[in-house]
Formats: sequence, structure tokens, C-alpha cells
Amino acid sequence: MTNRTENILPLNERNAWKALAVHYEQVRRLHLRTLFADDPQRGERMTAEAVGLYLDYSKNLITDETLKLLLQLAKECGLRQRIDAMFCGEKINITENRAVLHVALRAPREASVIVDGVNVVPLVHAVLDKMADFSDRVRSGEWKGHTGKRIRNVVNIGIGGSDLGPVMAYEALKYYSERAMTFRFVSNIDSTDFTEAVHDLDPTETLFIVSSKTFTTLETMTNAHTAREWLLAAFGGDTQSIAKHFVAVSTNAAEVAKFGIDTAQMFEFWDWVGGRYSMTSAIGLSTMLAIGQVNFRIMLRGFHQMDEHFRTAPFESNLPVLMGLLTVWYTDFFGTQAVAVLPYEQYLKRFPAYLQQLTMESNGKQTTLNGSRVSYNTSPIYWGEPGTNGQHSFYQLLHQGTSLIPCDFIAFIETLNPLGRHHDILLSNVFAQSEALAFGKTIEQVKAEGTPDWLIPHRIFEGNRPSNTILAQRLTPEVLGKLVALYEHSVFTQGAIWRINPFDQWGVELGKVLAQRIIPELESKVEPALGHDSSTNQLIRRYRNSKGI
Ligand code: F6P
Repeated sequence: MTNRTENILPLNERNAWKALAVHYEQVRRLHLRTLFADDPQRGERMTAEAVGLYLDYSKNLITDETLKLLLQLAKECGLRQRIDAMFCGEKINITENRAVLHVALRAPREASVIVDGVNVVPLVHAVLDKMADFSDRVRSGEWKGHTGKRIRNVVNIGIGGSDLGPVMAYEALKYYSERAMTFRFVSNIDSTDFTEAVHDLDPTETLFIVSSKTFTTLETMTNAHTAREWLLAAFGGDTQSIAKHFVAVSTNAAEVAKFGIDTAQMFEFWDWVGGRYSMTSAIGLSTMLAIGQVNFRIMLRGFHQMDEHFRTAPFESNLPVLMGLLTVWYTDFFGTQAVAVLPYEQYLKRFPAYLQQLTMESNGKQTTLNGSRVSYNTSPIYWGEPGTNGQHSFYQLLHQGTSLIPCDFIAFIETLNPLGRHHDILLSNVFAQSEALAFGKTIEQVKAEGTPDWLIPHRIFEGNRPSNTILAQRLTPEVLGKLVALYEHSVFTQGAIWRINPFDQWGVELGKVLAQRIIPELESKVEPALGHDSSTNQLIRRYRNSKGI
């Protein structure tokens, strides 16, 4: 599984892949109108339900044969073995020689997952218990700031996986959060982010969580130092105050100590947790402070249920496997380049942003596990907005544009905030949009409406635009866990088929290194380095000239 030199049949030479290429030529001519007309049960048949999530995948451009071939492809690509390898703690992140065990973060106390001869589950629960104890003390007011006041504000400083999960989860679970406390998230190096986050906060009531797996990330460390200065300014430079107002979440105790945070106030996680898979680790401390330890543990239970479903369910009824395979089908055979994620739930407004990192930092790769270049497309672009706002923005393109964009609609039977007819109207829009995308409006229908001839082409909807609909009863911490894990494992499925490593991110390195080189060039009179091109040099000079350097 982790052998770098293994001689594996390239994906597009596999039997199932070749059969899918032939099959695609037949399917691309079919229309969802015909597929539904020919099979009145399609909308009931092409569905799957597990752990409280209902997936309707009937409005996809597939037949039973497509599914059979995709499942065959999963088998030929060794998906089952790869799933087992991940859950067993094999070092499947081969370019960093690491296990990939976010699933261990939500394993029950009595479970056992061995990494390098050590059962990591007790370590996970020890940190969870430490987080719970701290969170209880802060929420109850027992934990006091330096002047003896209770903590009312929590500011998480982190970026990427150390920010997007916490922000998304805070927004998603706001309904369950402690409203007497304020939660803010600082990620960007742009000074506006920090300034705005703290502008109305009282330092004596503010706790900073510095969240960084490496504790070396430029943005996070710069913001953390700025936070330190902001705090010290309020306490007349008294460094004793740090202990009451700063905690750290990291894998790097040495750097945490160097920053000046007592490692007793550090919440640990491990190198086998990838940044974008870390919201169930101590990186979730702000989430726990917001919703309390009980709700946090309920969220973990939801993750675990989906993990177990992914690990054990037959592929034909396995939600993440089905979603992952459908993404491969569109990306590689239809040549689609995007997936729109459309949650019809205001609390999930940051869910698409969260998924951007999860999906694209994971599978935005062009090198296979054995080092060759892929000869097929990998991750699509994931993007989206909550419904119905998106409808009044970019849905025009989804319905009548020249790109085919598969959509994931996400909706809940019950709203957390019932108000008159709002929820019925919201849900009618979800169902209407997937119906309109799939079936469109024919020339005959447009004509029958009495449309003048010249306007008819503008008013035709071709339809045949695919979508999934994911329905759950109600947005709870448990359901959020299931939803996130659903996408995590869909990403895993895609990566396994594409035979890439979803768990490294070398593509973010170059820009970081170049920025480090350019920083001193923006701050001094020294001529920009010879190594830059004329465009970069000119941009640097222009900035410096405007600053008067
Ligand atoms: O953007 C690259 C990245 O390494 C992400 O993968 C990660 O989530 C983020 O930076 C933050 O890293 P850290 O938690 O180490 O500060």
C-alpha cells in the first residue's frame, strides 16, 4: 500500500476505466427526462440512507450500468484496501511518511488504533478530557482573567485547517452556542483582520487560542505576537497576564514554549492529523468553548458514525463512496471542472469555504503515488453559497451557462428557527432547483406559454444538469459531524481512484518561500534580488517608492 515503487496499472488502463469510457459515449446522449420517464421508480431507487442522512442521487447522468462500472473501478483501484489501510494506521501519507488518523480522533474511548506500536485512542481522550475541563472552567467563569474578571471573549488565531474548521463549526452550531460569550476568528495576515476582530473587545475578558499544528505559520505567529502586544499594552507590560489569556493548540511543544505559553496550557495533537482534517482534534477547542463539551462529544459521535459507515458499508450503499465515485465520473468522463455545494441552511454559510480546503488542498494534485504525472483530471473546484442567495447570483450559469456543474444540495426537514412559512418556502426552492436543473424547459413548453418567437431561445432550459440532494432531519452537532465526515471520505474515495496522496500539500510551499524572500525587499532600500523577473521587481519597486523607501 505504501510502497513507492510498486508497479501499478495506470488508472486509464484499467478494465473498468476503459469500459466507462465506452459507456460514457452512450450515456452522454441520454437525457434525465428520458431516464426518469423510462423508470418511474428511479427517484426512489437511486437513493441511499445511512446514519440519518438521505442521499438522492437519482438526478445524476447515470444508469445502473454506470454505477456497476464505477463500483467495479473502485474495486480495481483497491478502495477497500486503502480504507482499511487508513483505519489501521498505515502510513498512507507516503510523501510525509505519516499515518492518516483523523478517524482516531472520534473513536470511542474503548477503541484501539495503533501507530508505531502505540494505541493512540487513550492519548486522544486524555486531550479531550483536558479540553473539556478547561472549557467547563472558562464557560462557568471559574477560569478568570488576569484582573479576576471572567472570560467573555474567545479569539481563535489560526489559518487554513486551524481556522476554517473552527469558523465553520462555530457558525454551523451557533444555535447551540453560549450566547453570553463572543467568538472571533483571526486568520489573515492582513492587519485589518486582527484590528476588526478585537476592536470592541475588553482585553481583561479576552482569551486567545493560538491554533497552529506547526506553530511556525507566518500568518498565525505574526497575529499571535500582535495579540500578545495588544494584551500586554492593556496590562502595562505585565507578562504574568499571558498565562491567563493565552492557550495554544499545537503539535510543537518547543515552539509553544518559545512563544511564551506554558506547555501546561497547550492542547496537543499529532502529526497523523492533517490540518484540514483537524476540526475534531484540539483545534476544535473554540468549538467546544462555544457549544460545551457535551455537544462537542455528540458532534464526535456523528463523525464516528459516518466513519464506521464508510469503513463497513458495502460500496453500493456507501454514501461517501457513491459521492466520490460520481465526482470521478463527471470530472474524468464529462470533463467537468467544478462542484457547487449549496446548503439551504443559513447556519452552514461557511461550509462551502471549509470544503474548499478539504477538497482542493487534498486532491488538487497531478502526481500519482509512484511519482508519475496523472493522465486524467483530478480535483474539481468546490465552491458555493447558501441557498437561496446563490439563486439570485450565479444559478443563471448553472441553468443556462456553457459549463456543466454538478451540484450538491443540502437541506434539513426541520429548521432550528421556525418563522411562519419560511421553511416551506426554503425547501420548495431546494426541490425546485434540482428539478429545474434536471428537466429544464423544452421549446414546446416555452412556445405554449405564448412566448414570442425571437425570445424562445433565451427562455429554453436544456436541463440534464446533475445534482445530489442530501437531506437530514435537523442541523445538530451530531449531524454536522456526519456531514463533514461524508465529504472527508468522499475526498478519500476520489484520491484512492486517482491514486494520489490527499494528505500532503506541497503546492502551498513555493509561495511561502518566495514571500519570505520578498519581505526584507519591501522593508529596506536594498535592490530587489536579481533572481526575480522584471514584473516582480517592478511591483516591489512601485510599492517601495509609494512608501517612500
Ligand atoms: O496552507 C497550508 C497549511 O499547511 C494547511 O494545510 C494548514 O491547515 C495551514 O497551513 C495551517 O498550518 P498550521 O496549523 O501549522 O499553522
